[in-house]
Order: sequence, then structure tokens, then C-alpha cells
Amino acid sequence: MAASRVSIHGYWSSRFVFVLAASGSAVGLGNIWKFPYIAGENGGGAFVLLYLVCIALLGIPVMMSEVLLGRRGRSSPANTMTALASEENRSRWWGLVGVMGMLTGFLILSYYSVIAGWGLAYVVKMGSGTFVDIGSDASGAIFYGLISSHEKLLFWHTLVLVLTMLVVAGGVKRGLETAARILMPALVILILIVVIYAIFEGEFYAGLVFLFAADFSKLANAEVVMKALGHAFFTLSLGMGAIMVYGAYLPGDASIAKISFQVAITDTVVAILAGLAIFPIVFANGMEPGQGPGLIFNTLPIAFGHMPGGVLFGTLFFILLVFAAWTSAISLLEPAVAWLVEKFSLSRLVATLICGTIVWVVGLGTVFSFNLWKKITFLDGSFLAGRSFFDLLDYLAANIMLPLGGVLICLFAAWAMREASRRDELKIKSERAYRLWQFLARYIAPAGVILVFLHILGVFEKIF
Ligand code: TRP
Repeated sequence: MAASRVSIHGYWSSRFVFVLAASGSAVGLGNIWKFPYIAGENGGGAFVLLYLVCIALLGIPVMMSEVLLGRRGRSSPANTMTALASEENRSRWWGLVGVMGMLTGFLILSYYSVIAGWGLAYVVKMGSGTFVDIGSDASGAIFYGLISSHEKLLFWHTLVLVLTMLVVAGGVKRGLETAARILMPALVILILIVVIYAIFEGEFYAGLVFLFAADFSKLANAEVVMKALGHAFFTLSLGMGAIMVYGAYLPGDASIAKISFQVAITDTVVAILAGLAIFPIVFANGMEPGQGPGLIFNTLPIAFGHMPGGVLFGTLFFILLVFAAWTSAISLLEPAVAWLVEKFSLSRLVATLICGTIVWVVGLGTVFSFNLWKKITFLDGSFLAGRSFFDLLDYLAANIMLPLGGVLICLFAAWAMREASRRDELKIKSERAYRLWQFLARYIAPAGVILVFLHILGVFEKIF
């Protein structure tokens, strides 16, 4: 029976620590780097609205499913899925959902740490006043100077992974919990400082309008819907077992619905705050929001460079970015490390070294895709056309593997498990709330993901 299972990795000290740690996982480059630039590219308010709908209808139900399975299984996602499948008399193949999750985590972390490395490099650049009174050509040259050097990228990528491994090797309480307890409050303070700075020094009102005034004509675009959905999974860390493994360390009495809401709301608020920090500063300097991935590395530093106190606040901004990325990176590694420890009785340190090394090697692909392999792109004529190794990884992981993983997790929790088991674990008191979750997890989340896949396969273009 479920109650008898124990986590061999230890537990969070309280449900509050779970919320801190899971929010640490959720709040990351997705919020501070990706969300502002995708919102910027896709017209601001319209995208923001769609994204909020995806969080509410798909994100929260899938998150509840992950926590539910994790707490019941009390182990790494691969072992949790296998154990629960056998408990529920279902096929052992469900274990593959956990295995795929570890793989997805490796792939995401391999490029995630490269981008986080840009952030670290920028802490130093900003702090040393490199961007003071600089123009857009010079800023572009600095950014290009970083990414076109494989030595530099390699250095920062390695440093980020070492920092990540240090935390994960420390274990649940001494490593993950300590990191969350220190970095999350620091992050909240930093982002508030930068937003207040944006209110005083930036075009705050223009930023607000950009983020919240929806141009509904943009919503009809299937591509935008797909991005919003993929991003909802990515930003909440869903679909690969990160939240599931955090759920495995959750004390037994916590209400899963409540804490899932808390995590989703924290994540959303930080994303919006990041937008409110970045866009007013960009607008104050007469620059464009739709810059793509270079928005915060290329455009934003120019803006800071022209503002009073820009060196200080710009540096704080990049420190914030690094803290956010750090607490996310550890959650990408944890499922695989926990699995190695369980499966081969390895020590945490050895398991972490093995996983970290694999990720480091895969990350070389991303490092080189900006310089040595820049010319190499994928097959013409398919949806992969023109993508570099890095684009390809991000596309496959965020738009395909995460939604697929998320939906399988949802299907297991809402269909394959016995109703008694899911009710027992969710502990939702209100019958209505339970039914709502079950409806969203059974029908709406799978339908949303299937629509997106049909779109990727080009089915709609062929029919309509
Ligand atoms: N959610 C993080 C972000 O927004 C990234 C992340 C951490 C993640 N763990 C994950 C994404 C697991 C998907 C799955 O930056």
C-alpha cells in the first residue's frame, strides 16, 4: 500500500519547503529569458493571455498529477512509474515515461546550462561597466564575441554544471533544500528591486500596455497557440518528472491542489514581473521588444548602459537570472541522479558525477552550434529545416517531449489509476474540485497536446 513506501533520499522539512523548491525549479530561464522574448515576438498581450489559459487548463492539472504520482511512488520517476503501474495492475511499459523523462532532462540541461553560462558571463561584463553608453553595434559585438568563442562558452557551461552538481551531490536536505531556502528569497528581492527601478527609470506604462493589451487577431495563429502550450509545460517544469521527484520528498499530509496552485502562481507572477522589469527599460531607450533570444543579452544591456545606476541594476538583473537558472538546473538533474542511486546503490556523489559528465558532453553540441558548427543545420523541407543543434534540442524537448511526457503522466493519473487511489492521494475535500481536476486531466490536457502534435505534423495544412 502507498502509505508504506518511503523515500530513501529523505524529505523536505515542510510543505513550504516543497513550494520553495518546486517554485525554484519552475522559475528559471523560462521566466526571465524565454517568456519575455516569446511574448515580445508574438505581440505581447495576446500571447500572455493564451499562456495564462494554458497554465490554468493544462499546467495546473498536469502539475497535480505529477505531485500525486511522485508522492505515492516515493522514488525517482522511472521507479515511481514502474511501481505504481504494478500496484494498479497496468503494463510495465509505463515505466518508460520516467525513463524518457530522465532523457529529456539531460537534453534540456545540456543547453540550459550553456544559456545560464551566458548569464554568468554577463554578471561579470555588466559589473565591470562594459555596457556603459554603448550602442547597438557594440553590444551586438560583445554578445557575438561571447557566443562565437567555443572556449568561453565551454568555460561558463562547465562552471554552471559544477555549481549544479555541487547542490545535487549534497542531497535533498543539505543540497536542494538549502539552495532553495537561500536562492528563492534572494531572487524575489532582486526582481522587486529591478521592477521598482523600471517603474522609476523606465517607460513603465508602455511596458504594462505591451504585456496586457491583447490584440486578439494574433490568437488565431496556430503557431502562437503551440508556443504558448509548449512554454506552459516548460515554465512549470512539467513533463519530465522534475516535479514528480520533488513530490516524492513531500510530507504526506500536504494538500496537492493547494501547493500546485501556489507553485503555478509564483511562477506566473515572476514571469510577469520579469516582463515588467524588462520591457519598460527596453521602451525607455526606444528599442524593439521583438528581438528574439537576444532580447536580454543584446538589447537590455544597451538600455541599462544608458540609464542612471544601470551598472548596479543591470548586474543585479543578471545575478537574478543566474539564481533562477541554478535552482532550475538542479531539478533537471535530480530525477536521473535519484534513479542511479536507487538502481545501483551508488553514492549521491558518484551518481551526480556520472550524470553531470553525460550532460556536459551533450552540452558540447550546443556550445559548438554557436560557433564551430554554425553552418550545420538540419534537413531541408521538414519542420527541422534550418535549425541548428541548439534550436533542434530546444524544439524537440520543449515542444514535443515535454507535452508528450506531461500527457502520459496525466493519462496515468486520471485514467490508468484506480479512482480510489487517486482520491486517496490527492486528498481533495470538495467533490466539485476533484471532478474539475479529473475532467481537465482526462480530456482537456490530452486534447490540447494532441491538437498541437497534429499541427506539428502539418495535418491541418493538409486538410484545410
Ligand atoms: N522551468 C524551468 C524554467 O522555466 C526550466 C526547467 C527546470 C524545466 N526543470 C524542468 C523544464 C523540467 C522542463 C522540465 O526555466
